[in-house]
Amino acid sequence: MKAKKSETERLSDLSRVSDEGEIYQPPAWAGETGTPSMSVYLKRWKYSVEDPEGFWGELARELVWEKKYEKVLEWNRPHARWFVGGKLNASVQCLDKHLNTPVAEKTALVWIGEPGEKKTLSYRDLYTLVNKLASGLKKLGVKRGDRVAIYMPMLPELPIACLACARIGAIHSVVFAGFAPQSLRDRIDDCGASVVITSDGGWRRGSKMLVKDIVDSAVDGSQTITNVVVVKRGGDVFSHEMKQGRDVYYENLVADGDEFVAPEPMDSEDPLFILYTSGTTGKPKGIFHTHAGYLLGTLVSSREVFDLRDNDIFWCTADIGWITGHSYVIYGPMQNGATQIMYEGAPNYPNPDRFWEIVEQEKVTIFYTAPTAIRAFMSWGDKWIKPRDLSSLRLLGTVGEPINPEVWRWYHKTIGAERCPIVDTWWQTETGSISITPLPGSTPTKPGSATLPFYGIDAVVLDESGAELSEGGGLLAIRKPWPAMMRGIWGDEQRYIDTYWSRWEGKYYFAGDAAYRDKDGYFWIVGRVDDVVNVSGHRIGTAELESAFIEHEAVIEAAVVGVPHKIKGEGLVGFVSLREGEQHTEELAEELREWIAKKIGKFARPERVMFVDDLPKTRSGKIIRRLLRNIATGRELGDVTTLADASTLEKLRQQYQEE
Ligand code: WT7
Repeated sequence: MKAKKSETERLSDLSRVSDEGEIYQPPAWAGETGTPSMSVYLKRWKYSVEDPEGFWGELARELVWEKKYEKVLEWNRPHARWFVGGKLNASVQCLDKHLNTPVAEKTALVWIGEPGEKKTLSYRDLYTLVNKLASGLKKLGVKRGDRVAIYMPMLPELPIACLACARIGAIHSVVFAGFAPQSLRDRIDDCGASVVITSDGGWRRGSKMLVKDIVDSAVDGSQTITNVVVVKRGGDVFSHEMKQGRDVYYENLVADGDEFVAPEPMDSEDPLFILYTSGTTGKPKGIFHTHAGYLLGTLVSSREVFDLRDNDIFWCTADIGWITGHSYVIYGPMQNGATQIMYEGAPNYPNPDRFWEIVEQEKVTIFYTAPTAIRAFMSWGDKWIKPRDLSSLRLLGTVGEPINPEVWRWYHKTIGAERCPIVDTWWQTETGSISITPLPGSTPTKPGSATLPFYGIDAVVLDESGAELSEGGGLLAIRKPWPAMMRGIWGDEQRYIDTYWSRWEGKYYFAGDAAYRDKDGYFWIVGRVDDVVNVSGHRIGTAELESAFIEHEAVIEAAVVGVPHKIKGEGLVGFVSLREGEQHTEELAEELREWIAKKIGKFARPERVMFVDDLPKTRSGKIIRRLLRNIATGRELGDVTTLADASTLEKLRQQYQEE
């Protein structure tokens, strides 16, 4: 009953749902390479969910098969196997496939460093570098099935490293380069990586990031790491040490590498990568994806959702350290032979118009970013945008968190000049590819709604008993398997079942989000219903932060909640109780915020740390986050009957308001 309350409460917050009748029609020019009209969408979507084998079987002809599969789908709930018995390789789909076509000489990446350098790589250049690195990794002893951790800022060598792993059948696990050493180490240990690929450094907001130092402290004492491969970001700018016998320069590996390494024929269901994401317990989950289904899902969704054409300049601003970068910088666009922008640095360096300068100079046509970034652009003011020529843009996208209608409208008007359709794409690390989204040539959009399910996604909104709602608020779930879905949690089979498939007796995939369905069947994503907070589009498990707090010697107990934040979407507030004799000082609060930034990463720094004598708990001792959230947001306390000591709470609230 308790859990029900808090969810229902979140669902009732539908302030984001925009006015009835505010609808933006798809422009006639859109949908050329994808879906041209609503009737085509409806017909194809019906086919895709009623006959997934037929639908995806036809599309799978676009993949280059080393050996054709025997069966499109084998569904042993909750385990799906797609393209059973097939053999293929991801680097072939992204690179080799283009070699005897005009795409080979086409620009694959325009890389722009924060200080202003520019590097252009064609698909053939990428092919050569990937082969050479693959050869180098082989010489280091990396074999099929081995795990390789990649910890690197947005440098061209990052996608190259991923594709080189894929080529030799090694499983890459990219760790966002904003994570602290301990977080990197936890991930390395969990997947048992034998090699880390990194860089000596990178630039961020005008400062040097000494990336290799972070890797050194993470890897120190590791039982599994045998080698660290180091990309030199630029001459000798970033001081670093090389450990003899362990560390090797990328440049040397590539220089000595063979021009051609035969791609490892991978089984359709062999893992392609592991990507860690936060869950409700302290331990991050290693979500893994496999070759064939993931490749097909990202290939098809990139083309359909972004209406990708030959001459597009595509810019997805996400870091490859997150799933968006995996699917819509590497695998989706590259399988489609797209030309892409990759930018190393901050959006406001040296000035808040850096992104618009890039759009203007590179004539970007498709721009895909997160609401948190859009809110930041809004707050910096239109004066940074107006002087820039953004007329090359034809399509805008957003991902990562709910977009407020007013932010959507600003994006549409100020960036898109009311000319560009917006695709608000809902999906997750777990879903692998875009799952609920408008298609630009067919779907009328409403500001704040992710609209309708993508092909193959049988999305529903359920009430807590598992009844489907044709209209109203409830929990978002997916009924059938889809090709790019996660295949499991690395090393923890049971957790996959418990987290995603146990809620309604295994009948549905539970996404962890609340959603509202309007009278047109459109989906409005409300937000997470678990203890996961979305800070600037970064998904952070509160349990992970709480464990980090408790590692500080002054802290005895901690509870972390998310609160609305103007730019970040959500910000973090830590409620902390201290050991006997520790003082509630401003300095300690600051020290604890810094502690979290050091332990987890700067992006996880709490907005505020509050000291409390006791945390509000149920009689069984469970911390009641809902109440803390209400306190932190200044809301009414709601039902307190489950509380062990109701007076704790009132005291807490007064204290919070006073501070
Ligand atoms: C969570 C997944 C997959 C892209 C990056 C985030 C939220 C994602 C939207 C959207 C509202 C969204 C959900 C989801 N989310 N896209 N368009 N509208 N919410 O991946 O780190 O796995 O996080 O991000 O809460 O569950 P992720």
